[in-house]
Amino acid sequence: MLRTNDMKTLFVTGGAGFIGSALIRLLIAESDWRIVNIDKLTYAGNLESLADLGGNPRHVFSHTDICDRTALDELFVAHRPAGVIHLAAESHVDRSIHGPGDFIETNIKGTYMLLEAARAHWSALDAEAKGAFRFHHVSTDEVFGSLGDSGLFLETSPYQPNSPYSASKAASDHLVRAWHHTYGLPTVMTNCSNNYGPCQFPEKLIPLMIHNAVSDKPLPIYGKGDNVRDWLYVDDHARALRLVFEQGRLGETYNIGGHNEKTNLEVVDTLCTLLDKLKPRRDGKSYREQKISVADRPGHDKRYAIDAGKIQRELGWTPQESFESGMRKTVQWYLDNSVWVAHVVSGEYRQWMDRNYGDRK
Ligand code: NAD
Ligand code: DAU
Repeated sequence: MLRTNDMKTLFVTGGAGFIGSALIRLLIAESDWRIVNIDKLTYAGNLESLADLGGNPRHVFSHTDICDRTALDELFVAHRPAGVIHLAAESHVDRSIHGPGDFIETNIKGTYMLLEAARAHWSALDAEAKGAFRFHHVSTDEVFGSLGDSGLFLETSPYQPNSPYSASKAASDHLVRAWHHTYGLPTVMTNCSNNYGPCQFPEKLIPLMIHNAVSDKPLPIYGKGDNVRDWLYVDDHARALRLVFEQGRLGETYNIGGHNEKTNLEVVDTLCTLLDKLKPRRDGKSYREQKISVADRPGHDKRYAIDAGKIQRELGWTPQESFESGMRKTVQWYLDNSVWVAHVVSGEYRQWMDRNYGDRK
């Protein structure tokens, strides 16, 4: 029988968030990695998203801020990880517009602290462990700015971040690149398009619209609703992350996207049609009636679209979920998990966390 000490350990930062929790569920189900989940549990971090793991011993939670270098050093000494997948971030564009400070702190300074802690650990490894170590930085297509009506983001596209969020992610990407170039830290990086799926905080377009629709609230469409995003089901992103972490070429970046360009109006109409079937309104009308136009997001990027050819050619990754199947699963998940939504909206999950993880903090 495998003892804990024999297992290879992987650090996942931001593992209580939307994508991090999907990644951890995948790694626990389909790999042998022992995961140390490093998360500060901001408003967006929710351990209830990992409740299905049922206290699996291969998942260890550490309530840690990635800006705390001392705590990070202690974790590296205690667990001696074979790699890091770094997802912890402030992730919501609208919040970055209203208050950029936390984005600068976590996304830039936090990434710097993590890089330095990882470098100290990696530098002291023996040659074999040093050769096998990986630092995977998880980033966004928003660093490339906004597209016009045509064209796709490539790994070689110039960086033109437009929001405080994307600027902070671009800064963190540059730090990772420099730590590879200057210190030889073995890094890989991914830039992904818009994710959707279970356990996404209901401030982002898709879960917000589902939550508002069934709560009899308006569905606020920014501007004309003709901005375009390239949607990817979160489990497809998680599979891509595992592939790049385990098989990606060092120093390389990989774009990840869903081949699903949709205007925001198309997304909201798709959601309304699904909800009309799965949970019809009591008055028999369509949820589309709840759509309202509101003031546009300042600096709103017009269009994002990814060329995911490199990850497909080199690592054989393609998305498994279509937009239709992914949206149906997502809507059904939110309808079936109204308690999860109620908890994250009310903050009640923090009490849940204290009950279930109070002794692990
Ligand atoms: P999220 O907001 O759902 O989760 C972020 C997690 O990071 C939370 O659990 C939060 O508690 C944690 N965190 C925040 N600050 C921290 C800190 N200082 N120390 C430790 N933990 C901290 O975000 P997400 O949507 O899951 O995104 C994860 C990553 O993927 C981010 O780096 C984001 O930029 C990137 N990304 C997201 C998308 C998307 O569509 N959501 C697309 C491409 C890339
Ligand atoms: O492209 C990847 C990025 O996708 C990630 O890096 C970010 O972390 C993630 O939040 C997401 O950013 P967006 O700004 O594209 O996602 P959001 O869900 O906030 O908005 C999607 C689109 O919907 C965008 O054009 C703004 C619009 N929108 C959003 C909200 C919340 C509305 O029209 N109404 C809304 O209420």
